[in-house]
Amino acid sequence: MPVREAVSDGEVAATFPVMRQLRPHLSESEYLGRVRGMQASSGYRMAYAADGTVRGVAGFRVTEFLAYGRFLYVDDLVVDGGSRSGGYGKLLFDWLVERARSEGCGQLHLDSGVERHGAHRFYLREGMKISSHHFSLDL
Ligand SMILES: CC(C)(COP(=O)(O)OP(=O)(O)OC[C@H]1O[C@@H](n2cnc3c(N)ncnc32)[C@H](O)[C@@H]1OP(=O)(O)O)[C@@H](O)C(=O)NCCC(=O)NCCS
Repeated sequence: MPVREAVSDGEVAATFPVMRQLRPHLSESEYLGRVRGMQASSGYRMAYAADGTVRGVAGFRVTEFLAYGRFLYVDDLVVDGGSRSGGYGKLLFDWLVERARSEGCGQLHLDSGVERHGAHRFYLREGMKISSHHFSLDL
């Protein structure tokens, strides 16, 4: 199954039912506008795996920190609840790694909520290491 970058409005909109499983606060009416706004302001992009139906979606960006050099950051990675453990997550993860390499990144980073133990098992299995604590402040 191919992984494709979501380019057209239709492709972005078709990822909503899967994306909302990870980001339930998003509203369908605002989704496309939010994605287009983030693309313009901060280089956000999306990739998806589909076989007629979208099975999984990833949001990502290529950026640069003094700490890491050029790296790919994964904003979102989610597989449809009825399609998990079928290899779609690995398919998307491998695509992100390849995209990072092809765009000259030396690292791939992501944050994962502390309660997402299944996702942590998945990332560790894919060879990631836990490299920092993420701190945040509500303003
Ligand atoms: C984390 C997540 C993206 C992984 O996606 P996935 O499609 O389930 O992942 P995979 O199928 O590639 O791998 C998961 C399991 O399937 C198994 N698997 C991998 N390829 C497989 C295949 N071809 N056939 C059957 N099973 C397979 C793996 O052994 C793994 O087993 P484990 O969970 O017992 O370790 C998905 O579980 C998810 O969306 N979770 C909820 C949202 C979330 O927490 N996202 C992360 C935010 S940081």
